This record gives sequence, structure tokens and C-alpha cells, in this order.
Amino acid sequence: METSIQSLSSKVHDILQEAEKAIHASQSLDALDRERVHWLGRKGVLTEFLKGLGKLPPDQKPQVGKIVHTAKEKVETWLEACKLRLESEKRKIQLQQEKLDITLPGKSRKYGHLHPLTRVASEIVNVFVQMGFSVEEGPEIETDYYNFEALNIPKDHPARDMQDTLYLSKDLLLRTHTSPIQIHVMKERKPPLRVIAPGRVYRADDVDVSHSPMFHQVEGFYVDRDVSFAHLKYTLVHFAKRIFGEKTRLRFRPSFFPFTEPSAEVDIACSVCEGSGCRLCSGRGWLEILGAGMIHPNVFEAVGYDPSAFTGFAFGMGVERIAMLKYGIHDIRLFFENDMRFLEQF
Ligand code: PHE
Repeated sequence: METSIQSLSSKVHDILQEAEKAIHASQSLDALDRERVHWLGRKGVLTEFLKGLGKLPPDQKPQVGKIVHTAKEKVETWLEACKLRLESEKRKIQLQQEKLDITLPGKSRKYGHLHPLTRVASEIVNVFVQMGFSVEEGPEIETDYYNFEALNIPKDHPARDMQDTLYLSKDLLLRTHTSPIQIHVMKERKPPLRVIAPGRVYRADDVDVSHSPMFHQVEGFYVDRDVSFAHLKYTLVHFAKRIFGEKTRLRFRPSFFPFTEPSAEVDIACSVCEGSGCRLCSGRGWLEILGAGMIHPNVFEAVGYDPSAFTGFAFGMGVERIAMLKYGIHDIRLFFENDMRFLEQF
């Protein structure tokens, strides 16, 4: 009997040696599972081997049972250890594949922003809104009456020439300035009035560095009793300082507009040479920024205001021109070409 237990022991020992080798050689969890079935499964090597032991005499059973039990435990321990190793290897590979390089710079998104003309126009409008002006707009298609007639522009005035005005029909045209908004507002309302009115205007000009057939203006006007040229001056000095800086100096030059009397053209001291004369100001030392004046009595007559009771001032400026002077832009076409390299600078 001793011999039979001994030979059993050595058989189990051989099986275990083979099992250990095979289990540890497993390269994947699937392969390991196949090993588990091969050794411990219902028809596994150890299981089959154990089946034959049932026929042993009862007094040998505890001893044999112990050998077999220990063998099974060993195989299970190896399987478990191997499983842990393969799982950790799998996890390691997975982590490596999912590795993120957090030192890479992020993808930045560009924010959109307002077109420089939109921005300058609203800056101009805001200066006047803060002084109590209200914002108005008018139609881009006007009649001869609103664009010219009511503004005291006589029939033979050169501004009506086909070459300057884009006519849609005999009576309809694209407004050549924002001044017709004065007429619309004054016809609808009674003084006191403080209005700032931005908008597009059109002229039959050929495109060059300083001309565009479509451009933008901002019109302003103030009507009440006893409004004087001094009010106009104060208002425009304040405006110019807000837009071009506190040190800005202004010059009022006598001029002519049919709808204002007296009229003036307003200059700022050249921002480059500060008045001594340079290339930007063509040696003049001054740059024109707007036209202005006291509203002509004929305009008040046209809208039904009593010119002996009310006075007012009006002014009009080109947004492109203000923007060009403010930012040192030398070609008006840059505003309309929409080259991102230009637009991104604002
Ligand atoms: N409308 C004039 C222009 O287009 C500007 C202006 C407006 C002048 C108001 C005086 C008063 O040039």
C-alpha cells in the first residue's frame, strides 16, 4: 500500500510540475482560462485522475484526499496569481494606449468681434448718447425732397448732378448723406430735440484710397430755443477729445453748406506732427473730421418750425474717415475687402 501512495504522490507531483509550467507560460487571459479547464475542468487532467481514486480502500482515503486537495489548491493558487499578473499587464497596455500628453498646448478658439467701422460708429454714437442725444435712423432710399429740397439744396446745385448721386428713378435716389434724417425727425417731433443718427450713404464715386461708392456717416443735431454756435463748439470739442484723446486740439474753419448758416469745417491737429506739418496732413498740420453749422432758417420752414422761435446746430461726419485717422489707416478699401489679417487687428 505504501508503494501505491508513493507512486500516486509522484504522479501528482509530475502533473503539478507540468501544470505549473503550462499555467505560467499563458500569454493571455483566454489562454489561462483554457489551462484552468485543462487541469481543473469537469474533464480536466486532475479531475479525471481523481475519479479513479474512488475505488481505493477507505483507510487510504484521508491521506489520498489530502494529497489531491493540496494539489488542487496549488493549481488554483497558480491560476489566480497568473490571472492577476495578466490583468495588470493588460491594464498597463491599456493605460499606455490611452495616455494623454497634457503638456501639449490646447487648441484655442478665435472669438469673433465687431467690424472696425461698426465699432467706431458705435463709439461715436455713445459719446452723444451720454450727452443726452437719442439715436435715430432713416431710409437709405430717399426722395429728392428729403435728400435735397427740404435741406435747402437748390435744383441747380452740383450735388444733384447725376455724377454724384445714384438715382433709382426720376424722384428716388440712394441718400448721399445722413442729413435727410434731420427732416424726418423734425417733421415727426417738436423741439427740444437732441438726435444722433448713424447710417450708410452712397455716392457715384470711383473707388480709390479715399473714396468708396458706399460709406458711413453719423449725423447729429440739436434744436431748442437759444441754441448757439457756442453750444455746437462745446459739443464737438468734447466729442473730439473723447474719440481722439484729451489733448486733441480743434480748429473751426468757415465753410459752406446749403442747410447750415453759418457753416464750418472742423479739423483736429494732426496726430502725427501735432500741427507742424507732415506727410499725413500734407504739410497742413490739420486734418478735417466733419462739417457743421447752425441749421438754416429755410430748413426750419420746410419742416414747419418757426425760425424766429427756434435755433439749432447740426453736424455730419464720415465714419471711415474718423476710423482712418484714429487708427492710422491709409486706404479706405481695407474696410470693405474683409481680409482677416486686417480685421483681426481691431
Ligand atoms: N451732410 C454734410 C455732408 O455730407 C455734412 C453736414 C451735416 C454738414 C450737417 C453740416 C451739417 O458732407
